Amino acid sequence: MPFYITTPIYYVNAQPHLGHAYTTIAADVLARHMRQRGQDVFFLTGTDEHGEPVADAAHAQGLEPRALADRNAEKFKALAPQLEATNDFFIRTTDEEHMKRVQDVLQRVHDNGYTYKGIYEGWYCPRCADFKVENEILEGNRCPIHEIVLERHQEENWFFRLSAFQKPLEQLFDEQRDFVMPGHHYNEARAFILQGLQDISLSRKRLKWGVTVPWDPDHVFYVWFDALLNYYTALGYARPGEDLTGRFWPATYHLIGKDILKFHTVFWPAMLMAAELPVPEHVFVHGFLLGADGRKMSKSLGNVLDPFEVIEQYGTDALRFYLVRDVAFGSDGSVGMDAVRVRYEAELANEYGNLASRTIAMVQRYRDGVIPAVATDVELARAFEVLPAEVSVVLDRAEPTRALDLIWERVRRLNRYVEERAPWQLARDPEAAGKLDETLASLAEGLRAVSVLLHPYIPASVEKLLLALDAPDVSYARAIFAERGSGLSVQSLEPLFPKRA
Ligand code: ME8
Ligand code: MG
Repeated sequence: MPFYITTPIYYVNAQPHLGHAYTTIAADVLARHMRQRGQDVFFLTGTDEHGEPVADAAHAQGLEPRALADRNAEKFKALAPQLEATNDFFIRTTDEEHMKRVQDVLQRVHDNGYTYKGIYEGWYCPRCADFKVENEILEGNRCPIHEIVLERHQEENWFFRLSAFQKPLEQLFDEQRDFVMPGHHYNEARAFILQGLQDISLSRKRLKWGVTVPWDPDHVFYVWFDALLNYYTALGYARPGEDLTGRFWPATYHLIGKDILKFHTVFWPAMLMAAELPVPEHVFVHGFLLGADGRKMSKSLGNVLDPFEVIEQYGTDALRFYLVRDVAFGSDGSVGMDAVRVRYEAELANEYGNLASRTIAMVQRYRDGVIPAVATDVELARAFEVLPAEVSVVLDRAEPTRALDLIWERVRRLNRYVEERAPWQLARDPEAAGKLDETLASLAEGLRAVSVLLHPYIPASVEKLLLALDAPDVSYARAIFAERGSGLSVQSLEPLFPKRA
């Protein structure tokens, strides 16, 4: 089964921040999980380099757009491995291969009669690179996202006949009810369509920093169309000498933040229809990370929590875990260093890390380091029986927070099992040797099974632990709780989540 997942491509007008890390991590969790299940996965991320936001930022720093783009694209490209993200390709919209394909697709839109030349006038946000419609504009004529004062712009440009897709989009929303997820964002997108669609501009004349309109070279394409097409163009050249389009298009999931809902759920499918290309299966819209001030964390508001600081203090796994666990995927949530510390200490260190250390230490102390090859506890096994299926159903719906809740219930179940069985007491009673064998076999097995499902979330820690259990296989089939202890020898394990100063 092909599974194609994307993140937005990020603007190179500034440095990567936690919001970018959030979407990339969530996409990575899903990609890793699908790979565990043996699906044919392609995971794409990258950078959005054209248009006013980048040109303006460059000029403000006395740079050419290309120089700023090159500098910041490197930082975004480096971010992915720092997050342990396993993207299969990193697209830059300044790639020649991308630009050529953008021209091909949009030429087709033009040839199909969905463009015309006209004058546009409206309230424009240079940071969004977008005209705002009346009901989105904040008091004082400000951008609803950046809160900066909008500019009045008038220009001659090419238009895309979005209005021609009124009925086809309504039909798409009727037929594909999970086209936009979760449901409240589906409703929001649908309401936007039902208000009646107006044509939108497709090109810019004043701007040079973009992809040239092939039928009118004085214009460049409006950055959003250049950008959206990345999801499609990348498949054409990500693997030299191979075209992956037939294998992976249409995308299974585009993950996006709710700031860019309209582009992905309305403009994008219309553009694809205009080019006679299949539309994506799902656009999953997540919420905003909010700063301590309760407002959206953003570069322009300056209330950003630095992902690199979190990584430096607590490690990459902790950042991944924290973000997915603390901010329910699909809702807004505030973030801060104190909350990172609480999750790290209370859950990663005390619940999971401790369970791992205790289990290994007890196998060493009581059974010379060998996990007893005896039947495991049937009652404990029952708590794990449905877990792999539950997790995969939930992750099929792109709900990594919910899946982690389910997994974590089992981590807690194992900790309760330790308390219930009190192996240190069993060890003092020679008659309880069989029960101690069963207890240790079950604990080690539960720990192993739950760790396989945790691997997409905290890969480095799980890999260390599974090596210590001599059971490194993380394929999905291995998430089944076995009926017998493994008989394998364990190795000592450094604390997975050591105390921080
Ligand atoms: O919009 N909370 O790029 P961008 C959660 N280039 N997610 C956040 C966030 C926050 N506070 N801040 C950013 C663009 N994000 C365009 C996209 S796609 C064809 C073009 C994440 O650099 C979230 O995924 O502004 C959001 O949608 C994206 O970064 C916006 O990144
Ligand atoms: Mg933005």
